[in-house]
Amino acid sequence: MPQVFVTRPIPESGIALLVEAFGAENVVVSPHDRVITREELIANVAGVEALLPILTDGIDAAVMDAAGPQLKIIANYAVGYNNIDVAAATARGIAVTNTPGVLTETTADLAWTLLMASARRISESERYLRAGRWDSWGPQLFLGVDIHGKTLGIFGMGRIGQTVARRALGFGMRVIYTDAQRIDAAAERELKAAFVDKATLLAESDFVSIHCPLLPETRHAFSKAEFKAMKKTSVLINTSRGPVVDEAALATALKSNEIFAAGLDVYENEPQVHPKLLDCENAVIIPHLGSASRATRAKMAEMAAGNIVAYFRGDTPPNCVNPEVLDRQTR
Ligand code: DGY
Repeated sequence: MPQVFVTRPIPESGIALLVEAFGAENVVVSPHDRVITREELIANVAGVEALLPILTDGIDAAVMDAAGPQLKIIANYAVGYNNIDVAAATARGIAVTNTPGVLTETTADLAWTLLMASARRISESERYLRAGRWDSWGPQLFLGVDIHGKTLGIFGMGRIGQTVARRALGFGMRVIYTDAQRIDAAAERELKAAFVDKATLLAESDFVSIHCPLLPETRHAFSKAEFKAMKKTSVLINTSRGPVVDEAALATALKSNEIFAAGLDVYENEPQVHPKLLDCENAVIIPHLGSASRATRAKMAEMAAGNIVAYFRGDTPPNCVNPEVLDRQTR
């Protein structure tokens, strides 16, 4: 029976699938509800056939080699898989899977929550109230910016970007987007979304919501020049990956009111947040909670486990990001 190592406790429904398929004695879950250390990871992967890591675990060639040549599948507990060296996995014939789709709506909800909270200064005004500073209703107290009827710019129109765009329809917003490629014409019509270049997106959007993957070409896609090009009344939302935004430049832009506000779920060096950003009243900052609903996290666990179970049943794991390795394998 294949041995499976899970790097951090995940919802029970996923573990149950693994136990049912491989037996409890073959499924080891790290007992610590914290990020596994590199030493613990290296020690625990030795000899396993399947690894189920989470997005905070760096799974590079050294980890794969510490596991040994019997390692067949790495089933990431996330849709993003920038924590895994996929090229190194492919070179070793190891399948890599992720959890697309199940977290799309939940992450879009969270992006929308950040958009509304940033526009209407929810965190800042709640801090003020809790501090006992509210003495009266005021005509100019915590004035925000409107959402309805404004322009939403989506940077990265994949599954989550499109799902955020769909929410904008209910607010009577105009939607523009930019991406490496256009979505199909029917989707553009349904979302009433217009394809524009990045410069137009920055110049015309009242809200910019980032939904691209982290790639070499998207690292710091938002930095000093981009904030200068955005409207002074605009709001930036990031629920994709932290390094897409230059955090120091964003903090400067927020402090100098170059843009109105930001809503952030992800950071360049999680769990660290740039100290200047912590000090920005006009930033709504939360600890990477995009997919954090009970139902969605359970579905992610089942999906990651399901990929491993499918693999050892001899089926194609449904969410393989390097399917070319499957063609080369005899299982
Ligand atoms: C993912 O799956 O990539 C998300 O960031 C987790 O919330």
